[in-house]
Amino acid sequence: AIDRKVDSVLKLMTLEEKVGQMNQYSDDGLVTGIATQDNAKDQQIRDGKLGSLLNVKGAATTRRVQEIAMQSRLKIPLLFGLDVVHGYKTTFPLPLAEAASWDLPAIENAARIAAVEAAASGIHWTFAPMVDISRDPRWGRVMEGAGEDTYLGSQIAYARVKGFQGKKLGDIDAVMACVKHFAAYGAATGGRDYNSVDMSDRMLWETYLPPFKAALDAGAATFMNSFNDLNGIPATASTYLQRDILKNKWKFTGFVVSDWGSVGEMVPHGYAANNYEAALAAIKGGSDMDMESRAYTQHLAQLVKDKKVNIALIDDAVRRILRKKFELGLFDDPYKFSNEQREKAALNNPAHEKAAREIAAKSIVLLKNENQVLPIAKSTKKIAVIGPLVKEVKQNLGFWSIEMPGDSSYIVSQWQGLVNKLGSDAQLIYAKGCGIEDTSRAGFREAIDAAMQADVVIMSIGERRDMSGEAKSRAYLRIPGVQEELVKAIQATGKPLVVMINAGRPLVFDWISDHVPAIMYTWWLGSQAGNAIADVLFGDYNPSGKLPMTFPRTEGQIPIYYNYFNTGRPARDDNDKNYRSAYIDLSLYPKYAFGYGLSYTGFAYSNFKLSKSSMKPNETITVSIDIKNSGKYAGEEIVQLYLRDKVGSVVRPVKELKDFKKIMLQPGETKTVTFIINRDKLSFYNAQLQWVAEPGEFEVMIGASSADIKAAQNLQLVR
Ligand code: IFM
Repeated sequence: AIDRKVDSVLKLMTLEEKVGQMNQYSDDGLVTGIATQDNAKDQQIRDGKLGSLLNVKGAATTRRVQEIAMQSRLKIPLLFGLDVVHGYKTTFPLPLAEAASWDLPAIENAARIAAVEAAASGIHWTFAPMVDISRDPRWGRVMEGAGEDTYLGSQIAYARVKGFQGKKLGDIDAVMACVKHFAAYGAATGGRDYNSVDMSDRMLWETYLPPFKAALDAGAATFMNSFNDLNGIPATASTYLQRDILKNKWKFTGFVVSDWGSVGEMVPHGYAANNYEAALAAIKGGSDMDMESRAYTQHLAQLVKDKKVNIALIDDAVRRILRKKFELGLFDDPYKFSNEQREKAALNNPAHEKAAREIAAKSIVLLKNENQVLPIAKSTKKIAVIGPLVKEVKQNLGFWSIEMPGDSSYIVSQWQGLVNKLGSDAQLIYAKGCGIEDTSRAGFREAIDAAMQADVVIMSIGERRDMSGEAKSRAYLRIPGVQEELVKAIQATGKPLVVMINAGRPLVFDWISDHVPAIMYTWWLGSQAGNAIADVLFGDYNPSGKLPMTFPRTEGQIPIYYNYFNTGRPARDDNDKNYRSAYIDLSLYPKYAFGYGLSYTGFAYSNFKLSKSSMKPNETITVSIDIKNSGKYAGEEIVQLYLRDKVGSVVRPVKELKDFKKIMLQPGETKTVTFIINRDKLSFYNAQLQWVAEPGEFEVMIGASSADIKAAQNLQLVR
C-alpha cells in the first residue's frame, strides 16, 4: 500500500522536485562538517528543493521549519536528521564505553531512550549506529563504534538498531537508524581520519561487513556511505558496495545518504573533475541523498537532460526516500514528532537518568586493583580527589553529545557524584593539580599537600572530550600535558591511590599501569558519570566491564588486535625473538588484552565439557563450563567463547570470539554456562569468498579475556 502511495506522489513531481528530495542541508547553526552558508534556505524549502535537514532540533524549531515545507507545491514533509549517537538529553556512555559492558539489553535500552527523547524533540532520523570495526586507536572515531571485534560489534549493531527503531517505524517514539559508514572507514590507513583503505575482499567480508549485515537484519532504515576510498574507489561512488552488496545482494530497501560533503569531495580525491562528474559517479554508485555537497541539486537535473543519468535511477532514489517519509507517518501528520508537551515530559524522565547511571557503571573497566585499594569504605575519614577532570561537568558527555543550551544542571560531575554518595563534601579534599594540557607543574604542591592529609587518593585524568571523535586522529596516545607527572608526584606520597582515566580511545599509560595500585578506565560516561563512578568506587556496583579493544603498550604496536594470524614464525614468548615475528625492542603482548577487565570478586572456572569431541557439519555440540563466584562480593562475569580453526585453505586467526554470556553470581554461587557450536560458528570466507566450514581440527576455548584462556579442548569437524 505504501508503494502505491509513493508512486502517486512521484507521478506528480517535476524533475527538480525529485532532485530536491535527494538533497540534504545542515542548519546554519550547528555544523558537523565543513560549513557552507546558504542564503535563502527557507525559499529552497518552499520551492521543494530540499528533502531533509540535519542539525535542526527541538519540537518548536522543527515545527517552524516543517511549516515552511508545507508551503511548497506538493507539501512533501522534510526529514530531520541528527547525530543522536549516545543519547539526546540524557547522555549515555560513549558507544565504545557501552561496548565494554557487553550488556546487549542495556545497550539496546540506551538507544531506546535516546530515540524516545529525540523523537519527542522533532527528530526523525539518527545518524547512528556507527558499526565500523577498528583496530587502530589512533583513529579518533573509535569512540563511536563497538571496538575491534566483528562478533561483539555485530551483536551491538543489532541491539542499537532495535533500540533506535523500537517496535516499528511510525511509532511516535521511534527514529530511523542510519548505519554508518559503508564501508571499511575504520581501517583508514595510519588511523588518520578520512584516509584511504586498501584491503582484500576476504578481509572486507569477514571482518568489516558483518556488523552492517547485522544492523540490516535488525531492520535498519538507512545507511550512510563513507569518506574513504576502498581499493581506489570512493565509497560514495562504489557500485560494488552500495548496489552490488547492499541493494542487490542484501536487498536493502531503505536509502543511502552520503557523508557530509562526500559527493563533492570526490573532486579533491581525484575521482571526479568537478561536481557535475561527482554527482554522476555518486548517483550511479547508489548514493540516494547528497548531504551538504550541493552536487545533486546543482547537477542532477542537467545530468538527466544530458542523458548521462537515466531517470529510473532518480526515481528509485526518490521512491526510497518517500517510502521512509510514509513509513514514519509524516504524510499523515508532518508535525507528528514536534510536540512541545511530549518533549518536556520525555526530556525530564527520572527513569532515563537511572538507566544512564546503570549502564555507565557497567561500562567502567577495572584494569588493576592491587592490595584491594578498591572498593573504598564510605567511612574513610579523608579522601583526596585530585586532577583536572574531577570538577569538569560537560567533559563527561564526551564527543558527539547534544547539549541543552543554557542547562547543564542534569550532568553529574565526578565531584558531585562523590558528594552525592557520601552525603556531603566533609570527607573530601580537592586539588586540581594541573589542567588537561598544562605544561606547568605549579599546582603540584597543593595536590601533594591534599594527598598527604588523606587516607586514600582518587585521581581523575585523561583526554579532553574533543580529543577523540571525528577528525581527532592522534599520533601520540599518551595522556596529555603533565598529568602523568602529577600521578608520579602523588604516587610518591605512598598513599593508597586510585587513578581514573577518562578517554574516548585506548591510551598509552605504561608508567601508571606499572606503578599505581588501582586503575579504572572510565572513558566518557555521560550525564550520570559522577554517580556511576561513585557507585563503583564505593562498591555499590561491582565493576564488570571488559575491554572491547586491545590496549597497546605503545603506539609502535598499532595496529594490534587479538585475532591475528599466527605467521610462519611465531615467537613463543618475549625471549624468543631470533628470526621470529616480533619487535626486538618491545614486548609482543599488549598492555591490556581484548576482553580483559577485573571485578572486586573472583571467578573460578571448572568442569569444561564438550557434548561430543567430533561433529558433522549439520550437527551441533554443546560446550559447558561451571563458573563459581569465589570471592566475597556479588558480581557479573562475561564468559567468552573463542574458536581456532587449526588448518584452513586460508590461514585462520589464533582465536576468534564466537559467543559470550554475561552472568550474575552471588558469593559462593556456581552457574553452568553453555554455548552451542554449529556449522556457522566454524565457517569463514575461503579464497573464492564462499562461506565454508572445512573439516579438520578446531580448538574450543573459554576465556575470561582473549589472553586469559581458562579451558580448551579440541573438536573435530568430520564429513
Ligand atoms: O553523521 C556524521 C558522520 O558520521 C560524519 N560526518 C558528519 C555526519 C553528520 O553530522
